[in-house]
Amino acid sequence: MIGVRKIAHASYDVPDLDRQLEYYTDIIGLTLSAKEKDTAYLSSTVDHHSIVLKKGSQAKCTRIGFQIGPDDDLNAFEKQTAGMNIKTTRKKDPEPTIADMVCFEDPKGTTMEVFKRPDLQHQKFQTKGVVPHKLGHVAFHCQDAQAVTKFYCDVLGFRVSDWMGDFFSFLRCGVDHHTINLIGTGSNRHFHTAFELRDWAHLQTACDYLSINGYKMLWGPGRHGIGHNLFAYHQSPAGLITELFAELDQMKDEALGYFDPRPWHRDKPQRPKVWAKDPSAANLWGPMPPDEMMKL
Ligand SMILES: [Fe+2]
Repeated sequence: MIGVRKIAHASYDVPDLDRQLEYYTDIIGLTLSAKEKDTAYLSSTVDHHSIVLKKGSQAKCTRIGFQIGPDDDLNAFEKQTAGMNIKTTRKKDPEPTIADMVCFEDPKGTTMEVFKRPDLQHQKFQTKGVVPHKLGHVAFHCQDAQAVTKFYCDVLGFRVSDWMGDFFSFLRCGVDHHTINLIGTGSNRHFHTAFELRDWAHLQTACDYLSINGYKMLWGPGRHGIGHNLFAYHQSPAGLITELFAELDQMKDEALGYFDPRPWHRDKPQRPKVWAKDPSAANLWGPMPPDEMMKL
């Protein structure tokens, strides 16, 4: 099958576009690559946009863009998807630099945008703000984590990296441990959007920078058990949760079937598995997320 290889962008509706845009440029350190009337495109180097902000009545993640490989055939991908009884639509020139896109909805109502990237944009990294390496993953609350996980694996070619119990999945489409996470909590909505930082020193600098600019941590810093990434969560002005992370597990060789060994792993080797719903799966360093975070 043709599977997606990379998360390219995530699109959000936000009531106050200017405020969220200022957060993404001045605090997170992305580049404003284009602005139309009610839509802003933000990038971090090679792609024209990694984040799209659109004025809307309610803050929510509406669409996720995924790239297939340069040698994959988009027509064949659409046929493969339609063959699973999924209604697809085709869009020509829907967004800057994207000429052709196959769109369909996942079971929780988020639009999937699958395309081939024609031209790389070669922007510079910013010198102001957190300046992440890249958009790493987007996590969602959903009604049925099992069903949505099956959809991402069957339709988009994701692999399961880990489960927490039977209600929280971590899915990869490349080497990174997770690009999509799905937690079954009874409602379909955004949970958090995560950006990859260089290392622990970068995360510390980012936490200080956030603090100086009036942003307090919701949870962390800590180290997740599942994925083993360092993490720190805060809320963006629109109310959506942002995670900054580093040192996420990577599976560089699917045939070997284990994540690159790290000193903090308990399993040797660390393979995909079902983790118990245990505090160490969430934070090896101890503190659990505050109840309020799971309600946002
Ligand atoms: Fe995360």
